Amino acid sequence: MNRKITIVAGDGIGPEIMDEAIKTLQAVSDRFGHQFQLDQRPVGGTAYDRFGDCLPEATLESCKNADAVLLGAVGGPKWDSLPGTKRPEQALLGLRSNLGLFCNLRPAKVWGPLKDASPLRPEIIGDDLDLLVVRELTGGIYFGGHRRNVEGNLAEDVMAYSAAEVERIARMAFELAQKRRRHVTSIDKANILEVSRLWRETVIRIATEYPDVKLDHLYVDNAAMQLVRNPKQFDVILTGNMFGDILSDEASQITGSIGMLPSASLRSDGFGMYEPIHGSAPDIAGKGIANPLATILSVAMMLRMSFGLVQEADAVERAVAETLESGIRTADIARPGEIPATTAEMGSAVAARIA
Ligand code: IPM
Ligand code: MG
Repeated sequence: MNRKITIVAGDGIGPEIMDEAIKTLQAVSDRFGHQFQLDQRPVGGTAYDRFGDCLPEATLESCKNADAVLLGAVGGPKWDSLPGTKRPEQALLGLRSNLGLFCNLRPAKVWGPLKDASPLRPEIIGDDLDLLVVRELTGGIYFGGHRRNVEGNLAEDVMAYSAAEVERIARMAFELAQKRRRHVTSIDKANILEVSRLWRETVIRIATEYPDVKLDHLYVDNAAMQLVRNPKQFDVILTGNMFGDILSDEASQITGSIGMLPSASLRSDGFGMYEPIHGSAPDIAGKGIANPLATILSVAMMLRMSFGLVQEADAVERAVAETLESGIRTADIARPGEIPATTAEMGSAVAARIA
């Protein structure tokens, strides 16, 4: 198979973790005989420094022409004082909206060998915690317009959803649930927000098309509590852009480290951008200690979801499991007193287990 992948490593630890994702892709192409043409492009603060633009036109064009996009992370203190519209985070939102990636999948599962890294008691996480956050990604308060008055003492951000936007993300959640434990929990704030009342009505209507899937609703405050009280009750969590952003960080901690969680951002035709859910971690950038597994697992999601390469995706995930079983841990998941593996050592350990 021959596929074009645009690589946008971005800022902070982005380039370090991306090197390890590229090692993984190389190992997969050697082992299974595929051709992956990688087009590396600047994005985020790094692109701003070079071109005065966090999302240069050439980067966006390359992404549009690719079969899939792999992204590291964007942002950092260096660019925090830029006006809102110029910030590196805007490049990420620009990619999501320009590429039409409305469906963000964030699977949170506990890897057996990492149970001791979770801050929750073993009986709370159980043996096989595995939930999937389905986050709407191109609407809601992120995209409703952001304003400040001339005096600078009043600001507003608009949260809006159309029924059509809710319908398409709800269908994705129900379809994914059918392949899992057939349970969707839709999360909103319908006791306060009109947007949430439309969200809930729409989800209830779409649910009638999927009678085999059980549907529950939770208010977001309760959901935040339930995630640490009894995370095993969840299968698929369906929610809007901002609640999904917040709850997916919370879910990541249940699994031990945000450095373990991959994500896929999809369009309905299967095109996708894949990225770790963590940020650019400027505090540890350049030290070679970041955990590359979230990015490596994002490669597995790309192989499976955009390219249909199931065996190859399984091989990457198996290599990650075996690496963790052999006790190799980066600093974020290392046990007390242990000398942690570097980013490159972790990436090489995984690649060696694919070959
Ligand atoms: C994420 C990140 C982004 C978001 C930021 C970097 C814009 O937190 O992907 O969760 O808020 O969506
Ligand atoms: Mg986030």
